[in-house]
Amino acid sequence: MSEQPLTGHEQPGDSCTIVIFGASGDLTKRKLLPALYNLKALKLLPANFAVIGVAVTDGDDAAYRKTITTDIKEFATRPVDDAEWDDFAKRSHYIPGDINSLDTFKTLSAKITEVQTAWKLPGNVLFYLAVAPRFFAKVVEQLHAVSLTNQTPEAWRRVIIEKPFGHDLTSARELNCDLSKHIEESQIYRIDHYLGKETVQNIMVFRFGNSVFEPIWNRRYIEYVQITVAEELGVELRGGYYDQSGVVRDMVQNHILSVLSLIAMEPPSSITGDSVRNEKVKVLESIRPMTPEEIISNTVRGQYGEGIVNGKSLPAYRNEPDVDPNSNTETFVAMKLMVENWRWAEVPFFIRSGKRLAAHTTQIVIGFRRAPLLLFGAQMQDDLDPNRLVIHVQPDEGITLDIRAKKPGPNLNVASVPLDFSYADFGEHAAATGYETLLYDCMVGDTTLFHRYDSVDASWRIVDPILDVWQALHARDYPNYAAGSWGPAAADALIRKSGHEWHHYLLKA
Ligand code: BG6
Repeated sequence: MSEQPLTGHEQPGDSCTIVIFGASGDLTKRKLLPALYNLKALKLLPANFAVIGVAVTDGDDAAYRKTITTDIKEFATRPVDDAEWDDFAKRSHYIPGDINSLDTFKTLSAKITEVQTAWKLPGNVLFYLAVAPRFFAKVVEQLHAVSLTNQTPEAWRRVIIEKPFGHDLTSARELNCDLSKHIEESQIYRIDHYLGKETVQNIMVFRFGNSVFEPIWNRRYIEYVQITVAEELGVELRGGYYDQSGVVRDMVQNHILSVLSLIAMEPPSSITGDSVRNEKVKVLESIRPMTPEEIISNTVRGQYGEGIVNGKSLPAYRNEPDVDPNSNTETFVAMKLMVENWRWAEVPFFIRSGKRLAAHTTQIVIGFRRAPLLLFGAQMQDDLDPNRLVIHVQPDEGITLDIRAKKPGPNLNVASVPLDFSYADFGEHAAATGYETLLYDCMVGDTTLFHRYDSVDASWRIVDPILDVWQALHARDYPNYAAGSWGPAAADALIRKSGHEWHHYLLKA
């Protein structure tokens, strides 16, 4: 099977040195190395490149090459070609070192020069901060101290920063202020792996590459929007992090609000980083922060208790490793947000997300208004759902449009039928990690899929007041949903108050 580029881009990224901080961490071995390998296999990684891993663990180039060769065998998403991998491995280097020590960065600087000379590389360097958030500012400060952040017209310096960007509005602003002392906004690539998902990228193509949807993509035709990001998994081994975070910080502030802004934004003047991001931030700024009273009536939080799924008992959140046994952290949220602009005034956007829910699915449901005239009998009309468009983000990827059709037979009976498009049937589709497009985009300097600081700030301005009210009013009913359910009953009540129900569709097999 011949392989297609993942993004439709044809030119490989700029020749560069890729420095990964956190080189022995999980993200690096599960996602970054497999993604870089996939790009190489697709000829989207520049032919001339080098990787330098940085981590606290002792080691050298030879030991690192051995480790990543074992890791790639376990985590690659496609068969590993020996010749391709050998070339990748021999271009991979390593330095051990503590991020807090300036000596590490002096050694790094010397190593970059050595590697650039050995491989005849230009001065471009991509720094990937796959480290805990508390190190973000420190790494950038140290890079600056040894002049590694200095760009020239021939040599770019870019920094990819993982989430979370801040713990709240204040800390996000502090972090941004710390970073901007040393690097320009245009050098910062705040990554959101949801924006690397094929179906999320397709939202813009679907909306602005077709002429039939945009005219009805507004309050006149759309009655509500729902975004569900449901996970079956619990917090696994990340209890320590998650207990300090909760689902609003972990999923809503970044992934979900970003997806929402792609659904609601105005057409950008071009598909370039700033045009798209200008439109996205306007959506976030149109979501008016709620008053404490509105927060109480428009949000629901939950925490999972124990449950039984497929005959297996699952522990309550409070009994998960590294979680406080009296934890007040939410593992579920449902809320109603209003985008107050001309396109969306009075159209509710319902979002919900949680761990240990009944299914693993991310989907966006666009609910259209009922047909204006009841031509086929009032009774029948009421029983039938209005048209719905479902964007299946994962695990099935595709789009369903529910339409009404006449049932075959002599009588005039009307039924809802789905028009399904599944990505699985859409040509050749190479398995990917979701990081390929993002790494590639950084190598070609395309910022479209990365968060600009103004949108990070706007997202925190939406969620901060909610977190404040919740913090002030401790949840008294936790745990309030069973592992393996669809969340607390109050989430259903929340949406019913507006006359709707939550939908979750399974894409036709
Ligand atoms: C991460 C969150 O950003 O996204 C995790 O920190 C969550 O808690 C994950 O499980 C979900 O990503 P995906 O791609 O599996 O939907």
